[in-house]
Amino acid sequence: MKLTGNTILITGGATGIGFALAHRFSDNGNQVIICGRSQSALEKAKAEVPAIVTRVCDVADTDSRRAMVEWLKAEYPTLNVVINNAGVQVRRDFTADPEIGTLDQEVAINLTAPIHLIAELLPTLRQQEQACIINVSSGLAFSPMADVPVYCATKAAVHSFTLSLRHQLKSTGIRVVEVAPPIVDTGLGGKTRSGGTANQMMVTPEDFATEALSQLEADKDEVLVGVSAKTRELGEAMFERMNSRA
Ligand SMILES: NC(=O)c1ccc[n+]([C@@H]2O[C@H](COP(=O)([O-])OP(=O)(O)OC[C@H]3O[C@@H](n4cnc5c(N)ncnc54)[C@H](OP(=O)(O)O)[C@@H]3O)[C@@H](O)[C@H]2O)c1
Repeated sequence: MKLTGNTILITGGATGIGFALAHRFSDNGNQVIICGRSQSALEKAKAEVPAIVTRVCDVADTDSRRAMVEWLKAEYPTLNVVINNAGVQVRRDFTADPEIGTLDQEVAINLTAPIHLIAELLPTLRQQEQACIINVSSGLAFSPMADVPVYCATKAAVHSFTLSLRHQLKSTGIRVVEVAPPIVDTGLGGKTRSGGTANQMMVTPEDFATEALSQLEADKDEVLVGVSAKTRELGEAMFERMNSRA
C-alpha cells in the first residue's frame, strides 16, 4: 500500500502498537484517526502528535461503534484504511479460576468487533480508489501460549477470517492484510502478560512500526515481524517449546 495520502482509522490507537503506527503514519503525511475507550489516553496521544484526530469509542459496544461509523462517514468520507488493532489479553487458568466473567468481552473486542466494524465501513471503503483493511492478529494465532487460551483462540480466528475476507474481496479494490506482531513492549495484559515483561524476543513498538510499515509498503498480504515469521512457518510444532518455557 502507499504510505502517504491515506485517511486511516486505527482502533486502540492511543497506546502501544496502535500509537506507534499512528505516529508513523501521521509523520508520513496521512490523516490519522484513533479511537479507544479512555479519554485520557487519547488526550495524551494527541498531546504528543497534535495532527492526530481522536474519538472515544468502545468498539465492542454496538451503539458506540455505530455512532463512530456515522461520524466517520460525515466527517471523513475519504476514509480508505481501517486498522483493527484494539485488543485485550486475559490470563485464564482452567485448573483454578478461568475468569469467565471477562470471557465475552475478550471475544467481542478481539474478534467480533473488528468483523462488525469491517461490515459497517465496507460501503465507505468501496467508494475509494484504493482501500485497505488491516487486521492485527498475533504470532500466537499460529501457535498458542496456553496461559492466554481465549486470547490465542481469538487471534487464530482473526487469521482465519482475514484469509476468507481477502478471498471474498479479491476482485474489489480493497486489499486485506494481516499484521501479526511478535512480543512487543506494551501494556497488553497488564502486569500478568503472557511471556512476562523481560522476554528477550520483545521489540519496542517503534521498531515494530518501522518494520510493519516497510512490509506494508512492499504489499505483503501477511506482515510477519520477528518471531511471528517462525510461528507462522512452524505453527503448532512450536507449541511444546513455547509452553515449556512458560
Ligand atoms: N504487545 C504484544 O506483544 C502483541 C503481540 C501480538 C499482537 N498484539 C496485538 O496488538 C494489538 C495492540 O495491542 P498492544 O500490545 O499495543 O496493547 P495496548 O497498548 O494495551 O493497546 C490496546 C489498545 O486497544 C484499546 N482497546 C481495548 N479495548 C478496546 C475497545 N473495546 N474499544 C476500543 N479500543 C479498545 C486500548 O485502549 P482503551 O483501553 O482505552 O480502550 C488500547 O489503546 C492488540 O490487538 C494485540 O492483541 C500485541
